[in-house]
Amino acid sequence: MTSPDYQALLDATVTRVKPLLAQGKVADYIPALAEVAQQQYAIALVTNDGQCFYAGDSEARFTIQSVSKVMTLTLALQRYGETLWQRVGKEPSGTAFNSLTQLEFEHGIPRNPFINAGAIVTCDALFSRLSAPIHSMLEAFRIQAGNSKIIIDKKVANSEYEHRHRNAAMAHLMKSFGNFDNQVDEVLRAYFSYCAIELNALELAKAYSYLSNHGFCQFSKQQLLTARQTKQLNSLLFTSGLYDAAGDFAYRVGMPGKSGVSGTIVAVVPGKFTVAVWSPGLDKVGNSIAGIAALEYLSMQLDVCAF
Ligand code: DON
Repeated sequence: MTSPDYQALLDATVTRVKPLLAQGKVADYIPALAEVAQQQYAIALVTNDGQCFYAGDSEARFTIQSVSKVMTLTLALQRYGETLWQRVGKEPSGTAFNSLTQLEFEHGIPRNPFINAGAIVTCDALFSRLSAPIHSMLEAFRIQAGNSKIIIDKKVANSEYEHRHRNAAMAHLMKSFGNFDNQVDEVLRAYFSYCAIELNALELAKAYSYLSNHGFCQFSKQQLLTARQTKQLNSLLFTSGLYDAAGDFAYRVGMPGKSGVSGTIVAVVPGKFTVAVWSPGLDKVGNSIAGIAALEYLSMQLDVCAF
């Protein structure tokens, strides 16, 4: 069977999303993110046999925000295995990514690792096992994306830290239930640094290429997770990667995916490719409007089927 013309498909998304770029709005609850120019779009795709394709504003660099939560979970699973699930659940939340209410009702155990509370408790777990948690995360991205120049956008990280009250409230609530081991502000510093990792679409697709490749990163030549763990992680992305819009994304796109408020989404076709898309205009839930539209188009053209 001939391989699809991925480059032509990515090029076609650029034209298709153009009318959508003015829709929605950039995230403004983090002041430094509100400064990003809205009408930008980039997409990159990495196949399991190592081919790389990209289109749009491919040089543009952006912070990954909640897409970092997938790497946080990966590093934590490497260190804790199944015991991690004593501290964080596997169920969709059906609530906003920064909701506090469920956490109170559910005794400080976040629903899943992709909402803020879940990622923060996973960071806390990592913090207990890593001597240099910020450096280790940055290195993971650098090695897996094959670019040692990937940095943390300090302005964004500091802006998030200054406006940390909601995330700090979640961490303190978890501490009150005995589900938080380290100093809240120190863990939050690491969490915000992870969210503020800055790279381009191709680097992002490369860094997460192990998700489509049975846990193996072909750029770093590392087996990051077992094939079984990778399947499990993709299942969780399918059910919870887009927060309270996970069902809509599954219906329209049919790929496991993870979004972030910078307007980026990473999506996976297991066994075939990983794709990263970025466009800052967000819908009401906090997901990229053009990003979802581009992935929906790719999914239709490639007849992606999760089952
Ligand atoms: O902690 C926050 O609120 C942000 N650093 C990340 C949130 C995010 O990306 C959720 N995405 N949809």
